[in-house]
Amino acid sequence: MLGFTSKEKTKYSEGIPEGADDLTPPQHIAIIMDGNGRWATKRGLPRIAGHKRGLNSVRKVTREAKALGVKYLTLFAFSTENWLRPREEVHGLMDLFRFYMRRECKTLVAEGVRIKFIGDPSEMPEDIQKLMIEAEELTSDGEVMTLVVALNYGSRAEIVRAAARLSERVAAGEISSEDVTEEAISAELTTSGIPDPDLILRTSGEQRLSNFLLWQAAYTEFLFVDKHWPDFDQTSLQQAIIAYNNRDRRFGAVKEASA
Ligand code: FPP
Repeated sequence: MLGFTSKEKTKYSEGIPEGADDLTPPQHIAIIMDGNGRWATKRGLPRIAGHKRGLNSVRKVTREAKALGVKYLTLFAFSTENWLRPREEVHGLMDLFRFYMRRECKTLVAEGVRIKFIGDPSEMPEDIQKLMIEAEELTSDGEVMTLVVALNYGSRAEIVRAAARLSERVAAGEISSEDVTEEAISAELTTSGIPDPDLILRTSGEQRLSNFLLWQAAYTEFLFVDKHWPDFDQTSLQQAIIAYNNRDRRFGAVKEASA
């Protein structure tokens, strides 16, 4: 349970939703940050303006998740399908990633946040690949929270790669087919070592997974929020955790009291 001090209550002022005083944070929250484009278009702005505002939400939500005691926060920043967007938008997004990694690492280190990337880095521009490695190294001592950024991430491709790697190992006689277990597959994914998400949240009202953490989401709770990502803030995160706390997770079993 997490209680707010009176100082924190003043800091967050009226924004504290009812029940926020008594939050039990999930260990791992993963977010599909949707609606940046619509947020911008509604205001007559170019789509990239929505992504820039989305970066503000990234900062707010990272800080708040950490303050609330979340241990892993995963953000879906760029999917393997996002390369199909107009060139200008893809370039704009790459520039935002560069900007974030150059500017934010010091803050992450100061706040004890470790950054980790999931996905296939090999298709990212070379300078960004370098920044990703540097950011992971620089923040590697962070113990308060792990910020997992999904960049060029596609869940099916990740599972295919894992299957291919395991079958190569079977073919080479290193392991037998009985060794191809759920644990062995999990260990070959780019999320290896990261616990499965407890909560996947998607903004902007869309209700789909879009090739995000398909394997890892076997027992995850889903929450679809009717707000565009640039409008998602600390209070929205608290509300999401309150909703999560009201869920009854049974992992396929039956609760003792109702058995
Ligand atoms: C989806 O909204 C959003 C993205 C594809 C990009 C998300 C990226 C950021 C918020 C920038 C920075 C992130 C980090 C972690 C450094 P959309 O464009 O699909 O929105 P739409 O559905 O309204 O078009």
